[in-house]
Amino acid sequence: MRLSGTRVAGAVAAAAIPANGQALTTPAGLDDTEQFTRACQDFAQKVQIPNSTFVAADFIPAGTTLQFPNVDPACSRPSQLVSVPLCRVQANITTSSTSGLHFEAWLPQNWTGRFLSTGNGGLGGCVQYDDVEWTASLGFAAVATNNGHDGMSGLPLYQKPEVVADFAFRAVQTGVVVGKDVSKAFYGKPHTKSYYLGCSTGGRQGMKVVQDFPDLFDGVAAGAPAMNFNNLNTWSAHFLTLTGSNTSDTFVSEDLWGVVHKDMLSQCDALDGNVDGILEAPDLCRYKADKLLCNHGAPAGACLTAKQVNTVNEIFSDMKAPNGTVLYPRMQPGSEAAGAFASYYNGQVSDKSDWIKYVVMSDPNFDLTKFTPDLWAISDALNPFDIATTKADISAFRDRGGKLLHYHGTMDGIISSDNSPRYYESVRAALKQEPAELDAWYRFFRISGMGHCTGGPGAHFIGNQKKQLANPDQPDQSVLMDMVRWVEEDKAPEFLTGTALVDNTQGGEVAFTRRHCRWPTMNKFMGGDANSADSWSCVAYNATT
Ligand SMILES: *[C@@H]1O[C@H](CO)[C@@H](O)[C@H](O)[C@H]1NC(C)=O
Ligand SMILES: *[C@@H]1O[C@H](CO)[C@@H](O)[C@H](O)[C@H]1NC(C)=O
Ligand SMILES: *[C@@H]1O[C@H](CO)[C@@H](O)[C@H](O)[C@H]1NC(C)=O
Ligand SMILES: *[C@@H]1O[C@H](CO)[C@@H](O)[C@H](O)[C@H]1NC(C)=O
Ligand SMILES: *[C@@H]1O[C@H](CO)[C@@H](O)[C@H](O)[C@H]1NC(C)=O
Repeated sequence: MRLSGTRVAGAVAAAAIPANGQALTTPAGLDDTEQFTRACQDFAQKVQIPNSTFVAADFIPAGTTLQFPNVDPACSRPSQLVSVPLCRVQANITTSSTSGLHFEAWLPQNWTGRFLSTGNGGLGGCVQYDDVEWTASLGFAAVATNNGHDGMSGLPLYQKPEVVADFAFRAVQTGVVVGKDVSKAFYGKPHTKSYYLGCSTGGRQGMKVVQDFPDLFDGVAAGAPAMNFNNLNTWSAHFLTLTGSNTSDTFVSEDLWGVVHKDMLSQCDALDGNVDGILEAPDLCRYKADKLLCNHGAPAGACLTAKQVNTVNEIFSDMKAPNGTVLYPRMQPGSEAAGAFASYYNGQVSDKSDWIKYVVMSDPNFDLTKFTPDLWAISDALNPFDIATTKADISAFRDRGGKLLHYHGTMDGIISSDNSPRYYESVRAALKQEPAELDAWYRFFRISGMGHCTGGPGAHFIGNQKKQLANPDQPDQSVLMDMVRWVEEDKAPEFLTGTALVDNTQGGEVAFTRRHCRWPTMNKFMGGDANSADSWSCVAYNATT
């Protein structure tokens, strides 16, 4: 990745806009902005970041489209529109003799005094510029890192334990520690409150900080966290042994998964009181595909062989150790309609298997079609830098006054949403706190009909990212600001309001809204207009997870 200039610490910012950037509009010319521009240019001369090989600070006027021609194409982030004036600080920070990270701090002119760290995704390797820009535009001093390597593949982790350490915990921790110092040095005063926002790997990073670095944040919003990371990766790799290749007799085609989905809905959709293709509590659905067996009444072309029935039933079964301990929960039903086929059931080696290949087996040629059951134990035993992220005693975070907002889409086709309540219940057991007590500082919400961090047929616009705002002009209606209100005004979110939009078009017509309930309650339809959130109620039920 080529940065905006190749200046080193101490050099003067020669141009406010990177040579390869394009200013779409010029700054308004307000005195404030002029002062701010000068402040950023001065900062470029005096900013010092320990252990860094490269530091730069650039004033970025509102309306600039930053180009990132050298960001790894796998990151799919060639450019970023910057909507507010800000000072962009970059550094390459050494984290050991064999590792380092790329760091960014976007310091908005209109600063609220808040600090925020974004997270990463998958095995990346990518600064999530869209999250940095969004949160900076809302007045947070926002930081990000590339998580210690570039791109989306697991290859940079191969035989590089220090790079794995960055990925497991150190990149986000370093980014926050450095970021808070940079923010303080720039604005001349410390931040008021600090926040974290991330999903998937970003969700795991948030949980990791809560577990191991409880002092760093006042509020953490962690979505679809990739916790139980070792077993999650083994689970990801094991689907291919269940489905076989797409010519195998155990394989279930995408069309047949459509048949399975309909059959599952016929058994489970009404459990929440409304037949709408969305399960509010998939844990109530113990679906088996047996009724689809050919020659048992299911029509030809829409029926499964015994082997295919077995494939489906295995996918929907918890993965257990020989002694009965659940290693990783089943895939939750519903996800087959929200991406699980593409991620896991298509008979191909999943790109989600890189962790097994490069880190667990340390063999780039490891044949993932040769999955053997001992992989579970091998992966679990390795657990580098405790990347498992399963520590249940998070009392230190509670005791420092932290708030943890945890959410998970129930149609997630990459990380089973069944794993999230298991973590909540482990915290409940470890701390001997009942939900009424946990509610004071830890709340978990299931987002019905939401896929992996985004999308799905449900009311998935919850404002966990900019593109997940139902209305971009109303950023207050978001998980992010729900968390801020909880921390700063002690207004705990009773539910997370989600919106479904016609054609999934942001800012467009509302299809329906729903108030997503917090665990351990479920959303139940009470009658009336199902599109109105008022027709639903969070009720106690006999959760089975
Ligand atoms: C800084 O790190 C990025 C991302 O890893 C890299 O592409 C770039 O070459 C580094 N820049 C310098 C000046 O070292
Ligand atoms: C700089 O790196 C060295 C060696 O890795 C480490 O001991 C030291 O704590 C780092 N300094 C800071 C301020 O992070
Ligand atoms: C600054 O931020 C505040 C609150 O975050 C907002 O109300 C105000 O409109 C912003 N001002 C400018 C000039 O962007
Ligand atoms: C089956 O898998 C092969 C690769 O193994 C692929 O080329 C082919 O397109 C797949 N067929 C279908 C119907 O998906
Ligand atoms: C059961 O097996 C798992 C996985 O090997 C292990 O972690 C766990 O400690 C075992 N539990 C008991 C009660 O032996």
